[in-house]
Amino acid sequence: MSEKLVVLTCGGGNGAHCLAGLAATRPDIESRVLTLYSDEAERWSGKMGSNMLITVHGDDGGTKQIETKPSIVTKDPKQVVPGADYIFLVVPAFAHAQYFEAMAPYIGNNTVIVGLPGQAGFEFECMHFLGDKGKACTMVTFESLPWACRLIEFGKNVEILGFKDTLGASVLKGKQCNLTRPIIETNQYILGEKPKVRRVQNYIAVTLMAKSIVHPPIMYGRWAAWDGKPLSEKPLFYQGIDERQAELLSGISDECVETSKAIEKKIKGLDMSDVIHVFDWYKNYYSDQITDKSNLMMAMRTNKAYDGLVHPMKEVEPGKYVPDFTYRYMAEDVPEGIVPMKGIAELAGVSTPYLDEVITWCQGKLNKEYIIESKLSGKDVNKTRAPQRYGINALEDLFRGNFETTP
Ligand code: NAI
Repeated sequence: MSEKLVVLTCGGGNGAHCLAGLAATRPDIESRVLTLYSDEAERWSGKMGSNMLITVHGDDGGTKQIETKPSIVTKDPKQVVPGADYIFLVVPAFAHAQYFEAMAPYIGNNTVIVGLPGQAGFEFECMHFLGDKGKACTMVTFESLPWACRLIEFGKNVEILGFKDTLGASVLKGKQCNLTRPIIETNQYILGEKPKVRRVQNYIAVTLMAKSIVHPPIMYGRWAAWDGKPLSEKPLFYQGIDERQAELLSGISDECVETSKAIEKKIKGLDMSDVIHVFDWYKNYYSDQITDKSNLMMAMRTNKAYDGLVHPMKEVEPGKYVPDFTYRYMAEDVPEGIVPMKGIAELAGVSTPYLDEVITWCQGKLNKEYIIESKLSGKDVNKTRAPQRYGINALEDLFRGNFETTP
């Protein structure tokens, strides 16, 4: 067995370059990359004759350059999954299933499988593909990516524009998993000093806190009454939020908090107090960047982290734009975001008029059927990551079985 900690990064995008590069700077980590998408593996490994560069922009305005190189980049899971201690999925949620399926035969006992970020339903999907093997593994879900980052040149140069200060992560440990290393501390070591990794109480709490909650209500609020005529500029996404959009987002967040309280009442001894309202989350996470904290709408409008971010739009003729309902704000954040939240609320017996209204509009735009009236019984629930899709139909079943929810 290798003495080094073997860290496998899955993906070939912005975040995957950062993680694979940062992990490779540690002398006691072997950093491997698996990318299944298109010709990314060939293109990236073709550039490994020399080091890759990570340009880090610090809070003080200075920049630092890190030269680094993962040990291998491949599209063949056989070459990199056996012996991997930590497997990070750093791809959009719709691509997770493909990785789980490809890696499942090669994953060994005591592997830690990390969603960076996990997005709602990460654990259900992982357990589904790993089957019995999952009982000897541990799943970690991060609530977001640690960095704001972007590729400058594929395989060669990536830029970290900023680090989050803290980042929540939940742990779901298989009862047959015998790990000797502490899970959260090891994650911290792999990521580096920043952000500070904060343990969230359990995987359902992190799901109800997922930031996929933000995009669908803003899309609905902005475009439900749109007359179909192209716009001559792209509207601001977060900083353009109005009272109605803020009400929808706040309403969904209230429903998630209410769901967590209902779960606490029904499951003895479970603490869900990490689930907080999105307005409180903004005040905690972006405290230095928000100038007006008087309400949710103003906090989002005056959040500097959102400067210049616009609605996803398609240009239909030069200088004319229409909304892009196929962008991840809908295509990902509904089936792998607010629909799983709705599924958990349904198991907890909580009614969710705001979620229902937003999902009903989104499913129309996505040409899918998730809910019928207020029940998660549409024909496309099996294309989501709601617990019901995996045969979980009782609240208690979320917290028992082969996993320790709060190890
Ligand atoms: P990205 O957009 O760079 O990821 C693209 C990568 O995903 C591709 O290079 C490919 O490896 C994979 N991929 C794309 N389409 C695929 C397909 N059809 N089949 C299989 N694989 C496919 O993503 P990024 O920026 O690395 O972000 C990863 C996750 O983190 C996303 O969910 C994103 O929303 C989230 N995030 C990203 C932030 C950032 O600053 N980049 C900030 C906060 C969250």
